[in-house]
Amino acid sequence: MVKARKWIIAKNFEGAPKESNFKLVEEELPAIKNGEILLEALYFSVDPYMRAFDLSGLIGQRMVGSQVAKVLESKHQGYKPGDLVMGYFGWQSHSVHHGDEPCSLGLDSKIKPYVMPDFQGLSPSLGLGVLGMPGNTSYFGFLEICQPKAGETVVVNAAAGAVGMHVGQIAKIKGCKVIGFAGSDDKVDWLKKEIGFDAAYNYKKVDIDAALAEAAPNGVDCYFDNVGGEMSSTVINRMNHFGRISICGAISAYNDTEKPKATIIQGAMNRSELKMEGFMVYRWEDRWLEGIKQNIAWIKEGKLKYQETVTKGFENIPKAFIEMMEGKNFGKAVIKA
Ligand SMILES: NC(=O)c1ccc[n+]([C@@H]2O[C@H](COP(=O)([O-])OP(=O)(O)OC[C@H]3O[C@@H](n4cnc5c(N)ncnc54)[C@H](OP(=O)(O)O)[C@@H]3O)[C@@H](O)[C@H]2O)c1
Repeated sequence: MVKARKWIIAKNFEGAPKESNFKLVEEELPAIKNGEILLEALYFSVDPYMRAFDLSGLIGQRMVGSQVAKVLESKHQGYKPGDLVMGYFGWQSHSVHHGDEPCSLGLDSKIKPYVMPDFQGLSPSLGLGVLGMPGNTSYFGFLEICQPKAGETVVVNAAAGAVGMHVGQIAKIKGCKVIGFAGSDDKVDWLKKEIGFDAAYNYKKVDIDAALAEAAPNGVDCYFDNVGGEMSSTVINRMNHFGRISICGAISAYNDTEKPKATIIQGAMNRSELKMEGFMVYRWEDRWLEGIKQNIAWIKEGKLKYQETVTKGFENIPKAFIEMMEGKNFGKAVIKA
Protein backbone atom coordinates (compact mmCIF):
# COMPACT_ATOMS: atom_id res chain seq x y z
CA MET A 1 0.00 0.00 0.00
CA VAL A 2 1.26 3.46 -0.92
CA LYS A 3 0.25 6.44 1.14
CA ALA A 4 -0.38 9.57 -0.96
CA ARG A 5 -0.39 13.13 0.26
CA LYS A 6 -2.73 15.47 -1.55
CA TRP A 7 -3.87 19.06 -1.40
CA ILE A 8 -7.64 19.29 -1.58
CA ILE A 9 -9.71 22.40 -2.27
CA ALA A 10 -10.97 23.64 1.09
CA LYS A 11 -12.87 26.70 -0.14
CA ASN A 12 -13.37 28.66 -3.33
CA PHE A 13 -11.13 31.64 -4.04
CA GLU A 14 -12.17 35.12 -3.10
CA GLY A 15 -9.68 37.72 -4.25
CA ALA A 16 -6.03 36.64 -4.21
CA PRO A 17 -5.46 32.94 -3.42
CA LYS A 18 -4.59 32.10 0.19
CA GLU A 19 -3.14 29.06 1.97
CA SER A 20 -6.58 28.56 3.57
CA ASN A 21 -8.05 27.73 0.15
CA PHE A 22 -6.29 24.37 0.44
CA LYS A 23 -5.97 21.55 2.95
CA LEU A 24 -3.37 18.80 3.11
CA VAL A 25 -4.71 15.27 3.58
CA GLU A 26 -3.42 11.72 3.21
CA GLU A 27 -4.97 8.68 1.60
CA GLU A 28 -4.02 5.04 1.05
CA LEU A 29 -3.89 4.17 -2.62
CA PRO A 30 -5.38 0.87 -3.81
CA ALA A 31 -3.20 -1.76 -5.54
CA ILE A 32 -3.18 -1.18 -9.30
CA LYS A 33 -5.47 -3.20 -11.55
CA ASN A 34 -5.09 -4.17 -15.23
CA GLY A 35 -4.61 -1.07 -17.38
CA GLU A 36 -3.51 1.09 -14.46
CA ILE A 37 -0.22 2.71 -13.46
CA LEU A 38 1.19 3.86 -10.14
CA LEU A 39 2.95 7.21 -10.33
CA GLU A 40 5.20 9.23 -8.06
CA ALA A 41 5.26 12.98 -8.67
CA LEU A 42 8.69 14.56 -9.25
CA TYR A 43 7.64 18.10 -10.18
CA PHE A 44 4.40 20.04 -9.87
CA SER A 45 3.24 22.99 -11.91
CA VAL A 46 1.42 26.05 -10.61
CA ASP A 47 -0.31 28.05 -13.33
CA PRO A 48 -2.53 31.12 -13.57
CA TYR A 49 -5.46 29.11 -15.02
CA MET A 50 -5.86 27.52 -11.58
CA ARG A 51 -6.96 30.89 -10.24
CA ALA A 52 -9.17 31.61 -13.25
CA PHE A 53 -11.24 28.49 -12.52
CA ASP A 54 -14.35 28.64 -10.37
CA LEU A 55 -13.63 25.87 -7.84
CA SER A 56 -16.98 26.02 -6.06
CA GLY A 57 -18.09 22.69 -7.52
CA LEU A 58 -14.85 20.99 -6.51
CA ILE A 59 -14.67 21.60 -2.76
CA GLY A 60 -13.18 18.58 -1.01
CA GLN A 61 -11.61 17.30 -4.23
CA ARG A 62 -7.95 17.12 -5.17
CA MET A 63 -6.57 20.44 -6.44
CA VAL A 64 -6.19 20.43 -10.21
CA GLY A 65 -2.78 20.72 -11.85
CA SER A 66 -0.17 19.04 -14.00
CA GLN A 67 2.89 17.17 -12.82
CA VAL A 68 5.85 15.27 -14.15
CA ALA A 69 5.70 11.86 -12.52
CA LYS A 70 7.72 8.67 -12.58
CA VAL A 71 5.99 5.37 -13.24
CA LEU A 72 6.63 3.10 -10.23
CA GLU A 73 4.48 0.19 -11.35
CA SER A 74 2.56 -0.54 -14.52
CA LYS A 75 -0.17 -2.90 -15.67
CA HIS A 76 -0.56 -1.00 -18.94
CA GLN A 77 1.51 -1.85 -22.01
CA GLY A 78 2.03 1.82 -22.92
CA TYR A 79 3.97 2.56 -19.73
CA LYS A 80 6.89 0.89 -17.98
CA PRO A 81 8.53 1.51 -14.59
CA GLY A 82 10.89 4.49 -14.80
CA ASP A 83 8.97 6.25 -17.61
CA LEU A 84 8.47 9.97 -17.05
CA VAL A 85 4.90 11.02 -17.62
CA MET A 86 3.28 14.44 -17.96
CA GLY A 87 -0.28 14.41 -16.70
CA TYR A 88 -2.90 16.40 -14.83
CA PHE A 89 -2.75 14.24 -11.70
CA GLY A 90 -3.27 17.28 -9.46
CA TRP A 91 -1.48 18.33 -6.31
CA GLN A 92 -0.97 14.74 -5.18
CA SER A 93 2.30 12.96 -4.34
CA HIS A 94 1.36 9.52 -5.70
CA SER A 95 -1.49 8.51 -7.99
CA VAL A 96 -3.11 5.47 -9.48
CA HIS A 97 -4.38 6.21 -12.95
CA HIS A 98 -5.79 4.21 -15.86
CA GLY A 99 -3.26 4.60 -18.68
CA ASP A 100 -5.91 5.20 -21.36
CA GLU A 101 -7.95 7.71 -19.41
CA PRO A 102 -7.60 11.44 -19.90
CA CYS A 103 -7.14 13.40 -16.66
CA SER A 104 -9.85 15.80 -15.66
CA LEU A 105 -8.76 19.41 -15.56
CA GLY A 106 -11.50 20.06 -13.04
CA LEU A 107 -14.08 21.49 -15.42
CA ASP A 108 -15.18 19.97 -18.70
CA SER A 109 -11.75 19.67 -20.30
CA LYS A 110 -9.73 16.46 -20.12
CA ILE A 111 -6.15 15.89 -21.20
CA LYS A 112 -4.49 12.57 -21.87
CA PRO A 113 -1.25 11.91 -19.96
CA TYR A 114 1.77 11.06 -22.10
CA VAL A 115 5.24 9.57 -21.72
CA MET A 116 7.53 12.52 -22.29
CA PRO A 117 9.78 12.45 -25.37
CA ASP A 118 13.58 12.45 -25.07
CA PHE A 119 14.55 15.88 -23.73
CA GLN A 120 18.18 15.32 -24.84
CA GLY A 121 19.61 15.79 -21.36
CA LEU A 122 17.44 18.75 -20.38
CA SER A 123 15.65 18.65 -17.01
CA PRO A 124 12.36 16.73 -16.92
CA SER A 125 10.87 19.69 -15.02
CA LEU A 126 10.83 21.49 -18.39
CA GLY A 127 7.95 19.19 -19.32
CA LEU A 128 5.81 21.56 -17.27
CA GLY A 129 7.28 24.68 -18.85
CA VAL A 130 9.20 25.42 -22.01
CA LEU A 131 8.81 21.79 -23.19
CA GLY A 132 5.21 21.40 -22.11
CA MET A 133 1.95 23.31 -21.93
CA PRO A 134 3.36 26.87 -21.55
CA GLY A 135 5.95 26.22 -24.28
CA ASN A 136 3.26 25.06 -26.68
CA THR A 137 1.04 27.96 -25.67
CA SER A 138 3.81 30.29 -26.83
CA TYR A 139 4.66 28.30 -29.95
CA PHE A 140 1.14 27.76 -31.29
CA GLY A 141 -0.66 30.69 -29.68
CA PHE A 142 1.82 33.20 -31.06
CA LEU A 143 2.78 31.72 -34.42
CA GLU A 144 -0.65 30.49 -35.48
CA ILE A 145 -2.65 33.51 -34.38
CA CYS A 146 -0.24 36.45 -34.73
CA GLN A 147 1.46 35.14 -37.92
CA PRO A 148 4.48 37.39 -37.25
CA LYS A 149 6.61 38.63 -40.13
CA ALA A 150 10.23 39.79 -40.05
CA GLY A 151 10.51 43.49 -39.30
CA GLU A 152 7.19 43.70 -37.45
CA THR A 153 6.80 45.03 -33.91
CA VAL A 154 5.49 42.65 -31.26
CA VAL A 155 4.25 43.52 -27.76
CA VAL A 156 3.92 40.90 -25.01
CA ASN A 157 3.02 41.31 -21.35
CA ALA A 158 3.64 39.15 -18.27
CA ALA A 159 6.84 39.15 -20.32
CA ALA A 160 9.17 37.64 -17.71
CA GLY A 161 6.80 34.73 -17.07
CA ALA A 162 6.81 31.27 -18.62
CA VAL A 163 4.74 32.12 -21.69
CA GLY A 164 5.77 35.77 -22.09
CA MET A 165 9.54 35.26 -22.14
CA HIS A 166 9.12 32.44 -24.62
CA VAL A 167 6.82 34.39 -26.97
CA GLY A 168 9.30 37.29 -26.99
CA GLN A 169 12.11 34.96 -27.99
CA ILE A 170 10.10 33.32 -30.77
CA ALA A 171 9.35 36.80 -32.05
CA LYS A 172 13.10 37.52 -32.10
CA ILE A 173 13.74 34.21 -33.92
CA LYS A 174 11.22 35.37 -36.54
CA GLY A 175 13.07 38.68 -36.98
CA CYS A 176 10.63 40.94 -35.13
CA LYS A 177 11.22 43.85 -32.77
CA VAL A 178 10.01 42.88 -29.30
CA ILE A 179 8.65 45.08 -26.52
CA GLY A 180 7.80 43.53 -23.16
CA PHE A 181 5.97 44.67 -20.04
CA ALA A 182 6.75 43.07 -16.68
CA GLY A 183 6.19 43.88 -13.02
CA SER A 184 9.63 44.74 -11.60
CA ASP A 185 12.81 46.58 -12.57
CA ASP A 186 14.79 43.35 -12.13
CA LYS A 187 12.55 41.56 -14.62
CA VAL A 188 12.84 44.45 -17.08
CA ASP A 189 16.66 44.45 -16.87
CA TRP A 190 16.72 40.69 -17.29
CA LEU A 191 14.47 40.78 -20.37
CA LYS A 192 16.70 43.34 -22.03
CA LYS A 193 20.10 41.95 -20.99
CA GLU A 194 19.55 38.19 -20.81
CA ILE A 195 16.60 37.45 -23.05
CA GLY A 196 17.23 39.92 -25.87
CA PHE A 197 14.07 42.03 -25.80
CA ASP A 198 14.53 45.28 -27.74
CA ALA A 199 12.66 47.23 -25.07
CA ALA A 200 11.03 46.38 -21.76
CA TYR A 201 9.15 48.41 -19.17
CA ASN A 202 7.92 48.01 -15.62
CA TYR A 203 4.17 48.37 -16.13
CA LYS A 204 3.77 49.35 -12.46
CA LYS A 205 5.89 52.47 -12.97
CA VAL A 206 5.50 53.69 -16.54
CA ASP A 207 2.73 55.24 -18.56
CA ILE A 208 2.04 52.41 -21.07
CA ASP A 209 1.05 54.77 -23.86
CA ALA A 210 4.19 56.89 -23.45
CA ALA A 211 6.33 53.73 -23.33
CA LEU A 212 4.80 52.54 -26.60
CA ALA A 213 5.24 55.95 -28.22
CA GLU A 214 8.94 55.67 -27.34
CA ALA A 215 9.57 52.00 -28.20
CA ALA A 216 7.11 51.56 -31.09
CA PRO A 217 6.93 54.93 -32.85
CA ASN A 218 5.70 53.17 -36.00
CA GLY A 219 2.97 51.24 -34.17
CA VAL A 220 2.43 47.66 -33.05
CA ASP A 221 1.75 44.81 -35.48
CA CYS A 222 1.28 41.84 -33.12
CA TYR A 223 0.04 41.85 -29.55
CA PHE A 224 0.29 38.69 -27.44
CA ASP A 225 -1.96 39.41 -24.48
CA ASN A 226 -1.47 37.57 -21.20
CA VAL A 227 -2.91 40.32 -19.02
CA GLY A 228 -6.01 42.09 -20.39
CA GLY A 229 -7.58 45.19 -18.88
CA GLU A 230 -6.58 48.78 -19.44
CA MET A 231 -3.04 47.86 -20.55
CA SER A 232 -4.56 45.98 -23.47
CA SER A 233 -6.86 48.82 -24.45
CA THR A 234 -3.81 51.08 -24.57
CA VAL A 235 -1.76 48.66 -26.69
CA ILE A 236 -4.65 47.95 -29.05
CA ASN A 237 -5.12 51.68 -29.62
CA ARG A 238 -1.52 51.83 -30.86
CA MET A 239 -1.82 49.01 -33.38
CA ASN A 240 -1.13 49.23 -37.08
CA HIS A 241 -3.52 48.47 -39.89
CA PHE A 242 -4.28 44.72 -40.06
CA GLY A 243 -2.56 44.09 -36.71
CA ARG A 244 -3.12 40.72 -35.00
CA ILE A 245 -3.97 40.14 -31.34
CA SER A 246 -3.63 36.74 -29.67
CA ILE A 247 -5.65 36.56 -26.45
CA CYS A 248 -3.82 34.10 -24.24
CA GLY A 249 -5.03 35.17 -20.81
CA ALA A 250 -6.27 38.01 -18.63
CA ILE A 251 -4.32 37.64 -15.41
CA SER A 252 -4.96 41.25 -14.37
CA ALA A 253 -8.56 40.25 -13.68
CA TYR A 254 -8.25 36.74 -12.19
CA ASN A 255 -8.38 37.96 -8.58
CA ASP A 256 -11.12 40.53 -9.18
CA THR A 257 -14.30 40.08 -7.22
CA GLU A 258 -16.25 42.53 -9.41
CA LYS A 259 -16.51 42.65 -13.19
CA PRO A 260 -13.41 44.52 -14.41
CA LYS A 261 -13.77 47.47 -16.77
CA ALA A 262 -11.45 48.87 -19.44
CA THR A 263 -11.62 51.51 -22.17
CA ILE A 264 -13.47 50.20 -25.22
CA ILE A 265 -11.38 48.87 -28.09
CA GLN A 266 -14.00 48.66 -30.81
CA GLY A 267 -12.94 51.99 -32.35
CA ALA A 268 -9.35 50.79 -32.83
CA MET A 269 -10.43 47.32 -33.96
CA ASN A 270 -12.67 48.87 -36.58
CA ARG A 271 -10.45 51.74 -37.69
CA SER A 272 -7.30 49.63 -38.02
CA GLU A 273 -9.12 46.47 -39.19
CA LEU A 274 -7.50 44.40 -36.44
CA LYS A 275 -7.95 40.68 -35.94
CA MET A 276 -8.31 39.37 -32.39
CA GLU A 277 -8.53 35.69 -31.51
CA GLY A 278 -8.61 33.88 -28.20
CA PHE A 279 -7.32 30.34 -27.85
CA MET A 280 -6.90 27.41 -25.51
CA VAL A 281 -3.60 25.65 -26.14
CA TYR A 282 -5.12 22.16 -26.27
CA ARG A 283 -6.67 23.19 -29.60
CA TRP A 284 -3.30 21.96 -30.91
CA GLU A 285 -3.20 18.71 -28.91
CA ASP A 286 -2.80 16.73 -32.15
CA ARG A 287 0.39 18.72 -32.93
CA TRP A 288 1.75 18.63 -29.36
CA LEU A 289 5.04 16.91 -30.16
CA GLU A 290 5.79 19.32 -33.00
CA GLY A 291 5.90 22.21 -30.51
CA ILE A 292 8.06 20.30 -28.01
CA LYS A 293 10.52 19.18 -30.70
CA GLN A 294 10.87 22.69 -32.13
CA ASN A 295 11.42 24.16 -28.67
CA ILE A 296 14.09 21.52 -27.88
CA ALA A 297 15.78 22.35 -31.19
CA TRP A 298 15.75 26.10 -30.47
CA ILE A 299 17.22 25.49 -26.99
CA LYS A 300 19.96 23.29 -28.43
CA GLU A 301 20.73 25.88 -31.12
CA GLY A 302 21.10 28.53 -28.40
CA LYS A 303 18.15 30.53 -29.77
CA LEU A 304 15.74 29.93 -26.89
CA LYS A 305 16.57 30.48 -23.21
CA TYR A 306 14.38 29.30 -20.38
CA GLN A 307 14.15 30.10 -16.72
CA GLU A 308 12.50 28.32 -13.83
CA THR A 309 11.63 29.41 -10.32
CA VAL A 310 11.84 26.15 -8.38
CA THR A 311 10.23 25.85 -4.93
CA LYS A 312 11.21 22.79 -2.91
CA GLY A 313 8.73 20.57 -1.09
CA PHE A 314 5.23 19.22 -1.67
CA GLU A 315 4.01 21.13 1.38
CA ASN A 316 4.95 24.41 -0.31
CA ILE A 317 2.78 24.06 -3.43
CA PRO A 318 0.10 26.55 -2.24
CA LYS A 319 2.82 29.04 -1.29
CA ALA A 320 4.44 28.70 -4.72
CA PHE A 321 1.05 29.20 -6.38
CA ILE A 322 0.33 32.34 -4.34
CA GLU A 323 3.78 33.74 -5.08
CA MET A 324 3.43 33.07 -8.83
CA MET A 325 0.16 35.02 -8.84
CA GLU A 326 1.99 37.84 -7.02
CA GLY A 327 4.68 37.91 -9.72
CA LYS A 328 7.55 36.52 -7.63
CA ASN A 329 8.51 34.06 -10.39
CA PHE A 330 11.01 34.52 -13.20
CA GLY A 331 10.03 32.16 -15.99
CA LYS A 332 8.13 28.99 -15.10
CA ALA A 333 7.07 28.38 -11.50
CA VAL A 334 7.51 24.71 -10.54
CA ILE A 335 7.72 22.74 -7.32
CA LYS A 336 10.23 19.94 -6.80
CA ALA A 337 8.58 17.21 -4.77
N1 LIG B 1 -4.80 30.22 -23.45
C1 LIG B 1 -4.07 29.21 -22.98
O1 LIG B 1 -4.20 28.07 -23.39
C2 LIG B 1 -3.06 29.51 -21.90
C3 LIG B 1 -2.10 28.57 -21.52
C4 LIG B 1 -1.12 28.92 -20.57
C5 LIG B 1 -1.17 30.18 -19.98
N2 LIG B 1 -2.15 31.05 -20.34
C6 LIG B 1 -2.18 32.41 -19.78
O2 LIG B 1 -0.93 33.01 -20.05
C7 LIG B 1 -0.66 33.98 -19.05
C8 LIG B 1 0.75 33.74 -18.50
O3 LIG B 1 0.78 32.46 -17.92
P1 LIG B 1 2.15 31.82 -17.42
O4 LIG B 1 1.88 30.41 -17.12
O5 LIG B 1 3.23 32.18 -18.34
O6 LIG B 1 2.37 32.56 -16.02
P2 LIG B 1 3.60 33.46 -15.62
O7 LIG B 1 3.62 34.61 -16.57
O8 LIG B 1 4.81 32.63 -15.49
O9 LIG B 1 3.20 33.96 -14.17
C9 LIG B 1 2.17 34.87 -14.00
C10 LIG B 1 2.71 36.31 -14.09
O10 LIG B 1 1.63 37.20 -14.28
C11 LIG B 1 2.03 38.48 -13.87
N3 LIG B 1 0.89 39.17 -13.24
C12 LIG B 1 0.25 38.84 -12.10
N4 LIG B 1 -0.74 39.74 -11.85
C13 LIG B 1 -0.66 40.66 -12.85
C14 LIG B 1 -1.41 41.85 -13.13
N5 LIG B 1 -2.41 42.27 -12.36
N6 LIG B 1 -1.06 42.55 -14.24
C15 LIG B 1 -0.06 42.15 -15.05
N7 LIG B 1 0.68 41.04 -14.83
C16 LIG B 1 0.37 40.30 -13.73
C17 LIG B 1 3.16 38.29 -12.85
O11 LIG B 1 4.35 38.89 -13.37
P3 LIG B 1 4.65 40.46 -13.20
O12 LIG B 1 5.75 40.56 -12.18
O13 LIG B 1 5.10 40.85 -14.57
O14 LIG B 1 3.42 41.16 -12.75
C18 LIG B 1 3.37 36.78 -12.79
O15 LIG B 1 4.72 36.41 -12.73
C19 LIG B 1 -1.77 33.89 -18.03
O16 LIG B 1 -2.75 34.86 -18.34
C20 LIG B 1 -2.36 32.51 -18.28
O17 LIG B 1 -3.69 32.39 -17.88
C21 LIG B 1 -3.09 30.74 -21.28
